[in-house]
Order: sequence, then C-alpha cells, then structure tokens
Amino acid sequence: MQQTIVHHKKVKRIKLTFPQNAGSTPSHPANQPLANAKAAKQDEFYTQLNDIANELKHYKEHLRGKTILCNCDDPFKSNFFKYFALNFKTLGLKKLLVTSYSRSPIVGGQLPLLEIEGLKPEGKEPYAVEINEVPDANLDGAINLDDVKHLLQHNANVTRPLKGDDTYGGGDFRSRECVEILKKADIVVTNPPFSLFREYVAQLVEHGKQFLIIGPKNAVTYKEIFKLIQENELWLGHGFAAGNAYFRIPTENAREFAAGVYDEKTGLVKFRNVWWFTNMDHDSRHETIPLYKKYSPSDYPNYVNFDGIEVSRVVDIPVDYPGAMGVPITFLDKYNPDQFEILGSSMTLGLPMSKVAKKGTYLQGGRFYLDNGDGTYSRQYDRIAIKQRRG
Ligand SMILES: C[S@@+](CC[C@H](N)C(=O)[O-])C[C@H]1O[C@@H](n2cnc3c(N)ncnc32)[C@H](O)[C@@H]1O
Repeated sequence: MQQTIVHHKKVKRIKLTFPQNAGSTPSHPANQPLANAKAAKQDEFYTQLNDIANELKHYKEHLRGKTILCNCDDPFKSNFFKYFALNFKTLGLKKLLVTSYSRSPIVGGQLPLLEIEGLKPEGKEPYAVEINEVPDANLDGAINLDDVKHLLQHNANVTRPLKGDDTYGGGDFRSRECVEILKKADIVVTNPPFSLFREYVAQLVEHGKQFLIIGPKNAVTYKEIFKLIQENELWLGHGFAAGNAYFRIPTENAREFAAGVYDEKTGLVKFRNVWWFTNMDHDSRHETIPLYKKYSPSDYPNYVNFDGIEVSRVVDIPVDYPGAMGVPITFLDKYNPDQFEILGSSMTLGLPMSKVAKKGTYLQGGRFYLDNGDGTYSRQYDRIAIKQRRG
C-alpha cells in the first residue's frame, strides 16, 4: 500500500451562493412553515461518542492549538461537546466554542447524554459556551465529566444566551451572532441539519474554515458540493466502521423511520447513507486502491454519449486503461487524488441523448448511456468520470 506524505492544504476563501433548499427559507422560528417541520424533525439525530472518537483520531495534527466550533450542538446533549471538553488538554486545543439551537426539540432535556441535568440554564433559550481551559477541578489527575460540570457551574463567563436577529432565531448558524462566533473558529466539527446541508457547507467555504462534518451521501450529487470535490476543496473523511452509522433519536421520532431502521432495544437508528465530509487531509485519503482487472472492450463497454467506459464497481477499475471511466459515487469513499483525477460527473459531462439517438429509444435524464444492441439505450446510475494519473 503506497503512503504519500500528507501536505497541509491552505484553505481557500471562495464566495459561494447556493440556492435555498427545503427548510432553509429565512424566517423567524415562530413563522416556520409547517411544511418544514418534518425536515426539522428528521434533522434530530445524535452522533455517538465512539463514532466521533474514531473519526477525530485521524486529524490530531490539525487540531493542536486550534479553536474548535461545534455550532449545531446543545452542550448538554452533544457528544461532540463531550468529546472535545473531555479531550481538551490531550488534543492541545486553544479554545472550544459550542452553540445550541433554539428550535431543537431536545432543548429542555430528552436525551441525557451528558448526564449533568440541572446545569442547563432554565428554559429553552439557546446559548453559547466558550471554554479556554478545562482544569482538573477534583484533582484526580484526569479531566472527566465532573471537571466539565464544575467548570460550567462555577465559571460565569463560560455560558451566555444567544438572542438571534430579525431573520434567524437564536443559535441558528446563519444568525449574525453565530456568524461572529464562526469567524473566531479555526475548525468546525459537527453533524449539522441535513435539510440545510448546502447552505451549511456554503457558509463554511465562504468563511474559509476547515471542517469535519457529517452529511448525507447523496450530497455529492449536489452540483455545488460536487464542484468542491472536483476542485479538491472538499473530500470524504476516514469513514464509519463498515459503512454503517448508528445515531440516537428522540424516542417519539421513532415512527418516522422505516421498520428495521430503528432498533427499540438500543434506541439507535441505522443510516447507510451518511459520510464524513472534510477539507482536512488524512492518511486514508492517500491509500492506493488496489486494482486487479485488465481492460477488455467486451467487459467495459463505451458510453454512447460520453467518450469513456462503464465500470459499474470500484473493484473492477481496470489497471491498464488510460482514458476516462465512469464509476459509481461510492468511489469517493476510496478516492486517492494521487492515483486518480476526477474529470466530472454524468450530471454534466454526458451529451444530451437527443443528439445521439431517436426519441423513444432511451429514458430521459442527464446520465451516461450504454447501447443495448437492439436499437435502445440504457441509462446508467449517477457516475463520476475519472482517469488514472500516470506517474
Ligand atoms: C443531525 S442533528 C445533530 C446534533 C448534534 N450535532 C449531534 O451530532 O449529536 C442536527 C442539529 O442541528 C440543529 N439545527 C437545525 N437547524 C439549525 C440551524 N439553522 N442552526 C443551528 N442548528 C440547527 C438541530 O436542532 C439538530 O439538533
């Protein structure tokens, strides 16, 4: 397995404006349309501590001396807060900033992850926490939850309420006061609301922040996100164990999930469709994908609307093919930019089929197509067009 020296990439500041998507219409929380309530409910799932620790261990060199922001996180519920507070010294953090969001149905306490109820400021108001040091208050030689609890209880400077502005409610990552907090951060780490994912990423990129966030796999097919991937401004993180991620949900939301997805015993939902997204380099991003297959025209047909071959499984990428290949989006999970170049995607590269074949011989859709040999054409799934880099 080839290892390449990891170079730290300076984050470029780019101004991006993404279209508003469902649930993102700027409106005061009190006027939140009912139509968005479902999306908001489905945004309520909470990351497990072991998944956070397993991912974060690949970025230790990035975190040292840095100000970390978790901006979709109720400190009394979030394992992101718990992870960074407990490991504040070990990771060598400069500062930890955490903001909670007013509309979160769990503000007020349904999931006692931190098990320090009673500390939370009364009511449902969102608030910000700023930690510059976690002292070993009980002098047991280790930083533990009692020390964090002591800090929050006895240092009045640590928490403050967030009021929001005319457009966004308190704790909304888009509100003016949260943007000011964002400006102070070096690295943003969280699991943000999926219904606002484009907007969330756009804000991070606009402010030139480093980040490590959880997001939906299909976000790679959003053209703005794919553009960032192609330009090497964003890539996938190390990943969840065996590709499955388990999240805790408020129990009353359990019926929102299909049978078999929610496990009553553990209270966890299983998601196969989430990835970590980051712009911080990590080792597994430079592992060479082992290739065993040889190219043959019969095994790898050419597309009719793009000059490239169809490779329907990443393991089947032919080692000796120099041209363009269309691969499934799961390729990104293994993508090594030293080994492959991303040329684009079937969303934009495929010639319109109307220029290639008669109407009625193919299904509409901006994808790559294969010739069925009987006068019809089959539309492929979303494909990423790649090419091997030759050393
Ligand atoms: C997927 S949950 C993850 C919560 C927590 N980060 C974790 O990983 O356990 C996303 C959280 O973002 C909050 N949220 C929704 N819209 C938000 C907004 N506009 N600004 C800040 N937080 C928001 C939700 O209430 C929800 O708790």
